[in-house]
Amino acid sequence: MQHTLPERAFQRCIRPHCDGTLPVACTAFRCPKCGDLLDVEYEWDRLPVPRSLKEFEAAWANRSDPLDFSGVWRFRRLFPFAPDAAVMTIGEGQTLCRRSDAVARYVGLNPGRLHLQYEGMNPSGSFKDNGMTAAFTHARLTGATRAACASTGNTSASLAAYCAGTGLMSGVVFIGSGKISYGKLSQALEHGALTLQIQGDFDDALRRVQEVSRQLGIYLVNSVNPFRLEGQKTIVYRVLEALRWEVPDWVVVPGGNLGNCSAFAKAFVELKRFGLIDRTPRLAVVNAAGADTFYELHANHGVRWNNGKPDGDRIGAYMQKLDAEGRRADTLGSAIEINRPVNLPKGLRAVEWCDGVVREVSDGDMLDAKAQIGAGGLGCEPASAAAVAGLRLLVSEGIVGKDERVVCVLTGHLLKDPTATVAYHTAEKKLFDEVLGRRGVQSAAFANRAVPVANDLDAIVAAIRGA
Ligand code: F0G
Repeated sequence: MQHTLPERAFQRCIRPHCDGTLPVACTAFRCPKCGDLLDVEYEWDRLPVPRSLKEFEAAWANRSDPLDFSGVWRFRRLFPFAPDAAVMTIGEGQTLCRRSDAVARYVGLNPGRLHLQYEGMNPSGSFKDNGMTAAFTHARLTGATRAACASTGNTSASLAAYCAGTGLMSGVVFIGSGKISYGKLSQALEHGALTLQIQGDFDDALRRVQEVSRQLGIYLVNSVNPFRLEGQKTIVYRVLEALRWEVPDWVVVPGGNLGNCSAFAKAFVELKRFGLIDRTPRLAVVNAAGADTFYELHANHGVRWNNGKPDGDRIGAYMQKLDAEGRRADTLGSAIEINRPVNLPKGLRAVEWCDGVVREVSDGDMLDAKAQIGAGGLGCEPASAAAVAGLRLLVSEGIVGKDERVVCVLTGHLLKDPTATVAYHTAEKKLFDEVLGRRGVQSAAFANRAVPVANDLDAIVAAIRGA
């Protein structure tokens, strides 16, 4: 069914000097004038902007309405591109922002200064559902019947869950061969998505899915789709909500395709423009060292947003060098195993807008941080732990002060990638070497080894007493 489109939202080129726009219903997701990325924008002067963030608390008392129940749509006044009747929700966004003193100690922050925003609690187990509900809603507005994505695993899991849960569309997912964890692959298969294992990696799959979507008119749900990022803005609204509408000093997030950091910065800048917050937090984006294009370009090659004119020659030369050297992204944080982030310009803009920094962390540091997050009571997948490992680095560098208030976003659930976790904790050298050793991880500082014990009461009692 086609719904009447609201007239107060549109798509606009991210370049300040380009005046390319598209109507809300268009699914090209590229500026018609210059080909760059698009933002969803609104005619805010014709829309009822909330006067205080506290206004959103009214939704808490109205949980029987699926839109107010959703941790995404209860904030819909901050991304009003769809009428309520068009919203496709499967109950996403019921997430936690939990204070974690144990992890604070590990990273070197004082007690009470670190919160972990746990997006693993979403229906498909990652933050992607925040964006997928928005993309599906937009897809419904456009009358789409099929949706596709390339994925390192979580986008495909989310797409598959929304196809199955809403019954709205059939899903096609493109994944790199041998590049996806079993947890995520099992979701795409179980929810019935057509799953294409492309020979190559995520960067290859993303290129192909864009071509195929154009050719076959399939709705694309990768984060090049600006409507997805509108939904992901709500992650930071929920962070603020949990902090009683106080702005933290830092938000730290892993960087892959750079959709999340872009969405967060847009959310904060909009809130500040509306006078709903008095400052934006600083943003830290953390790459895996084996997939560090953003870090390289920003920290080592001096590439900046530059008011919408990032140094294209320098970026192009870097990408050509990657190709010439045959360098492929390679990290245990498979979710962020990406060397050609599609949102690179928006990522640069996000760092500029939020006085941000970009760092990279090794797989070993990522897994140690992951084990400490787990020991603190929340479980995440390796890529998510890059945020905590990156924060630890920033505290050691003195960039983040011990008394600053920090939120790390844990993007995906522990059970997404059990292989990495079990290999980290194993006493079996063969398994350790196969999964971690070949990636250069030498030791597991916080391994909790399973204890082999005979099926014998005395032996079991002795094992417990000796522990
Ligand atoms: N963390 C997790 C768990 C992810 O799955 C991803 C991206 C990221 C972080 C990076 O976020 O792209 O917004 O910078 N996963 C995508 C996927 C690429 O296909 O599931 P980003």
